[in-house]
Amino acid sequence: MEQELFDTLAELEMKAAKDSLMDPDSAKFLSILAITNKAKLMVEVGSGVGYSTLWLAYAASVTGGKVISCEIDPAQAEATRANLAKANLTDYVEILAGDARTTLRQRTEPVDLLFIDGDYGQYETYFDVVYKRMNIGSTVVADKVVAHENDLADYTTYVQNHPNLESVTVPLGQGLEVTVKISE
Ligand SMILES: C[S@@+](CC[C@H](N)C(=O)[O-])C[C@H]1O[C@@H](n2cnc3c(N)ncnc32)[C@H](O)[C@@H]1O
Repeated sequence: MEQELFDTLAELEMKAAKDSLMDPDSAKFLSILAITNKAKLMVEVGSGVGYSTLWLAYAASVTGGKVISCEIDPAQAEATRANLAKANLTDYVEILAGDARTTLRQRTEPVDLLFIDGDYGQYETYFDVVYKRMNIGSTVVADKVVAHENDLADYTTYVQNHPNLESVTVPLGQGLEVTVKISE
């Protein structure tokens, strides 16, 4: 990992509000999953200040891929832009400012990895918008499924009972639901 990325991650871990930032081990695990899957196109819903975006961009720098990061709040999108610049990872990320439910419908590329960290009531919608562009082996990681178990119960029930998916809750950080598409 380059020093600029290391320093930017450390700065965010020190300064950013802990409740809005992804748990560091979860973010590293997400990045490792993306690299293991050799993910070329990764989509993120909810960049916040860009902490998880940096970890995905790092994975993209390893796989030769790219990240499309969605953020509805213009100030947060700007913070993500600034943090990517600090970490020298701007070239790996396209930021889609606006509501992911709209911006992602305008895209057509196949998606290898989807990371969901937006508002709790919409996880299934984000999933459905991207699902039609996922191939067998494509992976979905959803954050906070343990910390917000009740809010996200409909989502976890949905992916765990879907006939074309395998899904497991990983009790790391605030809880990650890791889902893989196994059939069409
Ligand atoms: C918990 S924060 C994301 C934290 C970030 N993933 C990280 O680890 O640093 C959730 C973010 O989702 C964004 N968000 C909520 N609803 C959204 C939507 N419909 N489309 C895009 N972004 C959304 C919020 O503005 C907020 O910045």
